[in-house]
Amino acid sequence: MRDVAVIGIGCTQFGERWGTSFRELFVEAGTLAIEDAGIGGESIDALYVGNMSAGRFVEQEHIGALIADYAGLTRAGHTPATRVEAACASGGLAFRQAVLAVASGMEDIVVAAGVEKMTDAGDSTDVLAAAADREWEGFAGATFPGLYAMIATDYMHRYSLTREQLAMVAVKNHYHGSMNPIAQFQNEITIDTVLRSTLVADPLRLFDCSPVSDGSAAVVVAPLEMAREFTDAPVTVIGTAQASDTIALHDRRDISTLDASVAAGNRVFERARVDRKDIDLVEVHDCFTIAEICAIEDLGFVKKGEAGMLYEEGQTYIGGDLPVNTSGGLKACGHPVGATGLKQVWEVVTQLRGEAGKRQVDGAEIGMTQNVGGSGATVVCHLFRRV
Ligand code: COA
Repeated sequence: MRDVAVIGIGCTQFGERWGTSFRELFVEAGTLAIEDAGIGGESIDALYVGNMSAGRFVEQEHIGALIADYAGLTRAGHTPATRVEAACASGGLAFRQAVLAVASGMEDIVVAAGVEKMTDAGDSTDVLAAAADREWEGFAGATFPGLYAMIATDYMHRYSLTREQLAMVAVKNHYHGSMNPIAQFQNEITIDTVLRSTLVADPLRLFDCSPVSDGSAAVVVAPLEMAREFTDAPVTVIGTAQASDTIALHDRRDISTLDASVAAGNRVFERARVDRKDIDLVEVHDCFTIAEICAIEDLGFVKKGEAGMLYEEGQTYIGGDLPVNTSGGLKACGHPVGATGLKQVWEVVTQLRGEAGKRQVDGAEIGMTQNVGGSGATVVCHLFRRV
């Protein structure tokens, strides 16, 4: 297997992009990424596109071909383009496919991208519910806010997490988002903002939820031995891991622990041979505030039930012991579902290059991403190191 490096990154503005079409979003991110790598379309050997549900959000399927066409890759060399789908983990999984293709020696320069245009659809809650078990959850009325509300209720009851501690996740992510020019929400909020916001699914309120978003992110990977031809600041992918769990929440051993997150986390740390304490920053899948609490415990940064205290102490802020979601996370940066996994990679690489401006984590050398599909049926984790 070959070592793999990131040689180019690009990300669009996240938010309600009324004036930009699905395909234009991809082209915007893809162009930024290949310009960053200093390559042309003819150098790209393969493309993997993470997308959850263009069929329902914008009534378009055959996404790989569409994107290859609009990116000019059909003229450049009839480049193979493949759509990857794992609900909200589609982007992370597209990145993993690109890494595996380069590591295996099959391809040299591969683009992984993620794109979603959600705001055109009037029924986004129902489209998203298709990532859960339609027969046993969706038909009974369960939505994603509803499923995560059940996790939150169970967790808060068992581990005495307070409503205020849960709100601190959103307050911190909005603070980080206020320093990220591509974030959907760049406003700071207080605990009171969260507690006074509209109830969505008890105990989760509006400011506990990630929003409905449009956006795209793209990353170019190459063998590490070739990386210096393209960039002075390559970032190595030192670990990739994926795990699966039951699609329905009620079939889980414990609904407050995402076992796939535990498994993917353990695998990626073993493969990369790094320790949790070596991590300088982590981007986790905070689709709801409770998901961030579970993530940092399930990945092994703190024991089960102890995350609340980390938030009380401010340790998850930039400058703390474990900066979490320096991009603003899904909560403030936005969550165009298929793009999120690649936006996480974009943020970690930006940080490891030292290019994150006001939100820079000083001396960041090793970063991590954790991208979740559905209520935890797919989890994909990656580890990165500055070369
Ligand atoms: N956080 C903060 N503000 C939000 C927000 C959020 N998550 N979602 C919407 N808003 C704001 C909008 O900007 C708008 O503000 P404005 O009136 O100042 O313009 C206002 O709230 C109303 O927006 P609207 O789009 O009408 O909200 P909504 O009630 O239709 O949707 C949610 C709110 C929470 C239901 C929706 O964001 C949602 O479904 N989120 C979860 C998405 C999800 O499940 N993703 C997959 C996870 S696995």
